[in-house]
Amino acid sequence: MSVERLPAGHYDTVWASPGRVNLIGEHTDYNDGFVLPFALPHRTVVGGRRLDGPTWTVTSEGYDEPVTFGPGEKVEGWAAYVAGVVWALREAGHDVPGAELFVTSDVPSGAGLSSSAAIECAVMAVLLDLAGIDVPMAVRPRLAQRAENEYVGAPTGIMDQSASTLGREGHALFLDCRSLATEQVPFDLAAQGLAILVVDSKAPHAHVSGEYAARRRSCEEAAKILNVAALRDVTDLDEALTRLDDEVMRKRVRHVVTENQRVLDTVDALRAGGAREIGPLMTASHESMRDDYEITVPQVDTAVNAALAAGAHGARMTGGGFGGCVLALVDADRCDAVEAAVREAFTEAGFTPPDAFVVTPAEGTHKLS
Ligand code: GLA
Repeated sequence: MSVERLPAGHYDTVWASPGRVNLIGEHTDYNDGFVLPFALPHRTVVGGRRLDGPTWTVTSEGYDEPVTFGPGEKVEGWAAYVAGVVWALREAGHDVPGAELFVTSDVPSGAGLSSSAAIECAVMAVLLDLAGIDVPMAVRPRLAQRAENEYVGAPTGIMDQSASTLGREGHALFLDCRSLATEQVPFDLAAQGLAILVVDSKAPHAHVSGEYAARRRSCEEAAKILNVAALRDVTDLDEALTRLDDEVMRKRVRHVVTENQRVLDTVDALRAGGAREIGPLMTASHESMRDDYEITVPQVDTAVNAALAAGAHGARMTGGGFGGCVLALVDADRCDAVEAAVREAFTEAGFTPPDAFVVTPAEGTHKLS
């Protein structure tokens, strides 16, 4: 993290927003369902200095050229996440001042760890602070999601921006994506001798946006046929499945409905202090994503299988799918052994070597200076 790259005293304000992993509840957010992500120690840091005119100039560490845009301008590439936030805030009626922004991040990009939500949420915090506008944290995820949906053009749900904004150290965020009610669920694995190992599968994210949009469309069509507002409202899965002719659609519905239940069961287990018990729920979630939602790839399936064979209590892909990361719930003293087993399986399969690291839930959006 090169926060020190921000020239001391040059910026009026500096904020940080983290990436996230999702413990369980995949592709449930846009079905008005439940999710249980937590914020990562990896974060994006944004410094901001007020400018007089309505112009925004943003420099990102790692990209040579700063990008400058005015109100209403369409920006492409990484800076679209910044311009999208300016756009969403202005659409919501906030008078966002012009600013010079500097962005630095240690959230791996393209790994399904929400580097885009991290940049959106940190930029939003800086702009609101510069403007002296008090927008409650609870309201910000919706605004950042709007930037992503309507400006960037990715039809994602509200999970990532919620985790990045509202995550709390030592807790997972239980979010009802319909009511937006939240509960901070204690998730202190070290106390139970456990750890979450993240394996970045390094699988190339081919076709990810088209496939994501197709899954979402299929869910919305199914909800229409079943005459419910969203798949979250399906209460009798067997009965619902008899009303759908299309086999693919039946599988999609079965994933979403069973996944929602797994989130509720996971939260119950954690409330009762039984982190080890969530392992089988994680693995069942992976199987459902693999067989019913059909969003896994050989690299993530290999990582899950190898982790389980090496003694993980549970393992699953996290995030939108088609690559990205796997989470494994492991005994703290087995992290190295599980990581070694996954590496060996990747070598045998001829895959690019994965990255692996242990994570603990960290703080959501916060001010650094
Ligand atoms: C991506 C999206 C989220 C969510 C997940 C799948 O991360 O940004 O809104 O839909 O995929 O759970």
